[in-house]
Amino acid sequence: MRIEIGSEFEESENKLLKESTFDYWVKGNDYKLTFSGRTSLDLILHDIGCYSTVYLPDYCCESMITPFIDHGFDCKFYEVKFEENNVKLSIDSNIQNSVILFMGYFGFSKLNDVNTTSKIQDQGNIIIYDATHSFFSQTQGVSADYTLASLRKWLPIPSGGIAIKTKGLFKEDYTLNNSNEIVQTKIEAMRKKKDYLEGRNIEKGFLQDFKMFNEQLKNSYKNLDIDHHSEMILRSYDYKKMIDQRRINAEQLLYELDHKEVNVKVLTDSIGGNDVPLFLPIEVPNRESLRTYLIKEGIYLPVHWPTPNHPYFENVKKKIYRNELSIVCDQRYSCDDMRFLVQKVREYYKNGHIF
Ligand SMILES: Cc1ncc(COP(=O)(O)O)c(C=O)c1O
Repeated sequence: MRIEIGSEFEESENKLLKESTFDYWVKGNDYKLTFSGRTSLDLILHDIGCYSTVYLPDYCCESMITPFIDHGFDCKFYEVKFEENNVKLSIDSNIQNSVILFMGYFGFSKLNDVNTTSKIQDQGNIIIYDATHSFFSQTQGVSADYTLASLRKWLPIPSGGIAIKTKGLFKEDYTLNNSNEIVQTKIEAMRKKKDYLEGRNIEKGFLQDFKMFNEQLKNSYKNLDIDHHSEMILRSYDYKKMIDQRRINAEQLLYELDHKEVNVKVLTDSIGGNDVPLFLPIEVPNRESLRTYLIKEGIYLPVHWPTPNHPYFENVKKKIYRNELSIVCDQRYSCDDMRFLVQKVREYYKNGHIF
């Protein structure tokens, strides 16, 4: 049995393919690989030039807002509502001459409101689609002017983001500096984590290394290229295997969670034929208590997201920021791991934790 489930990717021994299938997922005329999702947004905003207002979803993470603030944008927000296994966006269809950022959530087509987004394309707006959660789902869907994704969320690469321009080419004057040195701490942390998981090392010093890397990224995310090691993995990764495993794991989770004793609400109830889940999101009113219980069992589930630190959110008390918990279903894990994970959730409720 695994000693730990979740959290940052460890170094992986996945067999790499000779033929790259990566380009299959890139829908657009021009693309650049970058260090991170934030770098990709920075590159896109540089390419867009002189716009001053952006509309962002009111369910998002701070790192999606930061590049807009750094480019001097006035950030406005539109409402994202989760209801009956679907997502609905409330956005004024008369918005003009603005940048509008859309995203699909967690890789599920039911959590990607394509109907609303397709209405608002014209009127001089620039549409950016954040495909971080839905990059491998065929529902990328929206015909945006630009697409970006943080690819490092999907596979064991220390760095990796992508910026795609649907029509035409990116301006050539955005510099992407070499990042091979910067990622060394992360490569080392991923290796140490692998040693820890395989019992060759009992120290968890890698936690500090991951933290340092993430802090550094917060402070300097601009003008950075993807590192060579990550690009090599990205271009030869077995995506079919990844996709199959994620879908199987998410199906298993949905099956296991559909049970009275488990007491959690899934944000969506089914996986579309072309959906590739990043995580399976659930809502639990007692999130921190459940999360702490699972950590004691070696299960580390992320939260999407802490409420962003932006004045707009001082008066917005969205339930989802308090209740959401993301169940991991990535390619590192098997159906048995998913069963084990839900069994631990079930134990939590059996042990008298109710809400
Ligand atoms: C939806 C989404 N977009 C963009 C980003 C930024 O990606 P990165 O952390 O690679 O800069 C994140 C980060 O969590 C994200 O969740």
